[in-house]
Amino acid sequence: MTQRRIFVTTALPYANGAFHIGHIMEYIQADIWVRFQRMQGHEVHFVGADDAHGAPIMIAAEKAGKTPQEFVADISAGRKQYLDGFHIQFDNWHSTESPENTELSQDIYRRLTQAGLIYKKPVEQHFDPVKGMFLADRYIKGECPKCHAKDQYGDACEVCSSVYAPTELINPYSTLSGATPVLKTSDHYFFKLSDEKCIAYLRKWLDEPGRLQPQVANKAREWLEGKDDQKLGDWDISRDAPYFGIPIPDAPGKYFYVWLDAPIGYLASFKNYCAKAGIDFEKFLADPQTEQIHFIGKDIIYFHTLFWPAMLEFAGKPYKTSKLYVYVHGFIQLGGEKMSKSRGTGLSPLRYLDVGMNSEWLRYYIAAKLNGSVEDIDFNPDDFMARVNSDLVGKYVNIASRAAGFIAKQFDGVLDFPDEAESVTVERLARLQFELDTIRDFYERREFGQAVRHIMGLADRVNQSFDAAKPWVLARDSSKAKELHGVCSRAIEAFHALTVSLAPILPRTASIAFRDFLKFEEKPIWKAHNFRQHRIGSYQHLSNRVEEKQLDALFEIPKDTKPVTASTPHATSPSKTEATASVASATHISIDDFAKVDLRIAKITNAEHVEGADKLLKLTLDVGVLGTRQVFAGIKSAYDPATLIGKHTVVVANLTPRKMKFGLSEGMILAASGDSPGLFLLSPDSGAQPGMKVK
Ligand code: MSP
Ligand code: ZN
Repeated sequence: MTQRRIFVTTALPYANGAFHIGHIMEYIQADIWVRFQRMQGHEVHFVGADDAHGAPIMIAAEKAGKTPQEFVADISAGRKQYLDGFHIQFDNWHSTESPENTELSQDIYRRLTQAGLIYKKPVEQHFDPVKGMFLADRYIKGECPKCHAKDQYGDACEVCSSVYAPTELINPYSTLSGATPVLKTSDHYFFKLSDEKCIAYLRKWLDEPGRLQPQVANKAREWLEGKDDQKLGDWDISRDAPYFGIPIPDAPGKYFYVWLDAPIGYLASFKNYCAKAGIDFEKFLADPQTEQIHFIGKDIIYFHTLFWPAMLEFAGKPYKTSKLYVYVHGFIQLGGEKMSKSRGTGLSPLRYLDVGMNSEWLRYYIAAKLNGSVEDIDFNPDDFMARVNSDLVGKYVNIASRAAGFIAKQFDGVLDFPDEAESVTVERLARLQFELDTIRDFYERREFGQAVRHIMGLADRVNQSFDAAKPWVLARDSSKAKELHGVCSRAIEAFHALTVSLAPILPRTASIAFRDFLKFEEKPIWKAHNFRQHRIGSYQHLSNRVEEKQLDALFEIPKDTKPVTASTPHATSPSKTEATASVASATHISIDDFAKVDLRIAKITNAEHVEGADKLLKLTLDVGVLGTRQVFAGIKSAYDPATLIGKHTVVVANLTPRKMKFGLSEGMILAASGDSPGLFLLSPDSGAQPGMKVK
């Protein structure tokens, strides 16, 4: 077998928010594939980065009162907990706002200019005279020219669904400043995708077998050839200042459109990694054997199958590559009605980790659902629980836990097959190897669902023959010791093969099983192993079952988005009906409802740890006219008690006092938290006195 050299990426997430479940799903898919390839002995480099540029991020940063650089750096700092939490093993995480990306983008642009594929032409566009910037269509609203609905976006009406140009809107206004946009002309740079050599190249590229999934190639061909007289247009690659992006060389005030430098960010992250890992970046890229593989979602096919291959090709060596592959996945959706009604909306990956759910359960479930096509996949909580519990725990883990006890007790922890000839063992190992080869093929084609089904089919057969041999009966008859030894050893031999085949999906469980239980010293490879006379370790539990209450906690409506009903002040897990009720009324409350909540300024006069509580701090509050209060607050993870003493904050003063294990809690202090890390206590501006009302 020849060793492949593979460079793998996932799409670069916009740096304007925390990861959502769609991102995590993509990373899990790519990570499984990468781990699988590494187990085949191939050389794989797997990188990601933040997509930092563009107008939306610039505007979001302004709103947050930060520079765009600070803004994206803060987002980037929140990535690690997700990647570690879900065992996603990028070799490097970088940013498109980086010296490498500036250098590479400008270099590729210069080469495309030399290839005669860049030109400049004036473009008339809406301009916000107050903000002093050109406005993308999504920042313009106005009255629909067809049905006269107000406040419709610049490209389509949400009321009558007609599509139009922003210039057709009646009374248009900028959503950034409210000003009436004016039309203004400026020069834009274009990439000449319509050039004959581009078209010819892309036609050939799209037709190469194995390059793209058939549905994806068809879609791209449709765009390329144009439908209904709509020829493929040239690509506007410049934006005028102010813009958060990379300056275009020799074009003052012009920046690359974010989608030009975003895919180049793949190379920038890889280059940054090469410098650290001692790899020759240019040599690696230029090597005709190097495979370059991008995992992306179906919404960004356009950029990856037309612009990107053309850019690389015409930028020339070392960028051009004959082994560029784009692997497209569908979207993960969150259940039908059931989920949104009874379990709130959305599946927050951070919350998944926070409520203590095992990230390998999600990896397994997503793998079981994935295939090599562009179909969407559905997260269904009941299905999730059933699969994890019946497959992972009931079938796979079960084999080890049932066989290990006999081996430990009766055979001193040593596996052996005294009931069969060596040739029988060898033959059986060949059959196991055949199974592994079949599973390998599924992984290779990203048919993870089929791989999982095949693996579980094998696990079923192992359990069946174990049951049929009735080891618990054999164990009672000392004359059957050899048979018992063989039965249990064969089960564990198969458990090893199952572990090999599940290792890309369950890296943590597999490494514990290899190291601590199977005492398998070598680096695991895709091979069945002869365990004759091999001593194993003691079996420690490998995975728990998913519990209903964990799913309830996962989909519980977070406290901070609940209306202030003050009914279950300290509840950590409201029942499903409560959660549903609060969604129904979540949009509006009356001012009278709000007035029921007695919010007061409090001074923290003492703060201390609570013995036996891993989340709580005990606070003593001075609430002015209302006297002194004792409150238990779940902020231990974020605050050192010593730093809290003397601080002012806000307390809900009229909550029914609640008796807790550690004492009486007489109120609740307010803190902010969300998907990004951290917990932030509210504090008033200086001057606020204890006891003052907050309203
Ligand atoms: N910044 C661009 C990509 C630039 S690549 C050079 C972008 N970012 S994104 O944050 O919107 O999306 C990142 C990836 O997440 C994309 O591949 C996208 O398809 C994927 N997903 C976003 N929502 C998704 C789901 N609900 N399900 C699965 N993947 C989805 O696009
Ligand atoms: Zn309309």
